[in-house]
Amino acid sequence: MSSAEFPHSDPVLSAEIDRAVRVLAAGGLVGMPTETVYGLAADATNPEAIARVFATKGRPADHPLIVHCLDREQARGWTTGWGPWGERLAATFWPGPLTLVVAATDQVLPAVTGFQPTVGLRVPAHPVARELLRRFGKPLAAPSANRFGRVSPTTAAHVRDEFPDRDLLVLDGGPCEVGIESTIVDLSRPGGMSILRPGVITAEQLFAAIGCWPELPPVGPAPRVAGSLAAHYAPTARVLILSDASLAELLAQQTGDSPTTLVCLRQAPPANTPPGVRFLQLPDEPKLVAARLYALFRLADEDGFQRIVFGMPGDSGVEAAIGDRLRRAATGSGGRAD
Ligand code: TXA
Ligand code: MG
Repeated sequence: MSSAEFPHSDPVLSAEIDRAVRVLAAGGLVGMPTETVYGLAADATNPEAIARVFATKGRPADHPLIVHCLDREQARGWTTGWGPWGERLAATFWPGPLTLVVAATDQVLPAVTGFQPTVGLRVPAHPVARELLRRFGKPLAAPSANRFGRVSPTTAAHVRDEFPDRDLLVLDGGPCEVGIESTIVDLSRPGGMSILRPGVITAEQLFAAIGCWPELPPVGPAPRVAGSLAAHYAPTARVLILSDASLAELLAQQTGDSPTTLVCLRQAPPANTPPGVRFLQLPDEPKLVAARLYALFRLADEDGFQRIVFGMPGDSGVEAAIGDRLRRAATGSGGRAD
């Protein structure tokens, strides 16, 4: 679903959103599409609902949740202040795939912040998320809707697959356009801004928006970001990032008949493909690669591949975010994800 407006002509989806509002008001959980990945949403002001999110995901209590707000005004009510840079970033990138980590007000539940003095705030762009937030009238705390230790879901079906034993209401907003989690920026420490998790809103865009490169690194200990653990975002198959030379070597070693290795490259496959290898040509546009990356991880697992091989990604723009997820997946194959 790409339009920014909720399609009021869809009575089934509209009725589902009303049902979702009732579930949330009763302290229940809802699978919510966002433009990045699907979230597991709960009333951000209800401690029992928040406890249910952690229990359902199997997530450790000290990993904070992002609070999703309808607009900048609502978000502003959750922080003691985010300064001129926060104002500028919120004005430039919201609604959109950017999370701001800022000083939390006393009212924010400690379970939401992971017992830290900061809160992560984001105004999502997906029309179904926006309509849900509008009708519910309160912010929604939502981690990615995967069990702790699994890849983030980018379709409603992925969410249902994650929680097959729960009767979870999942709003189907189609495949996520962005496909990887939001860029997280820390504005909570004096003297600077730092990127805690890269995403499709790039460092270049962030610094252009605030009009300067921060002169000083922020002071004080960095907030904990669970997604920054080395082992993250990993499928069951091993993820390898290879140079052209190492790829040629790997291909030369593939002798088995059944395909065990999936090679994902931008260039066309070589003429002589060993039988144990399947090639997938990736789009040139990094945003399209990001949009499909997690779905690709899941498909490779379903098809029983033992290895997924990628070429080296670049280190700027959206490729930096893809490289971040690939490196974590490569470190943590079989590892844990928030
Ligand atoms: O795109 C996204 O951000 C998705 C969608 C659903 O909005 N959400 C998402 O949530 O990726 P989750 O819980 O899977 O990852 C949120 C990350 C975690 O690594 C968490 O540690 C970090 O955000 N985070 C949240 N609040 C924070 C805070 N106060 N300080 C530092 N990190 C925070
Ligand atoms: Mg997550």
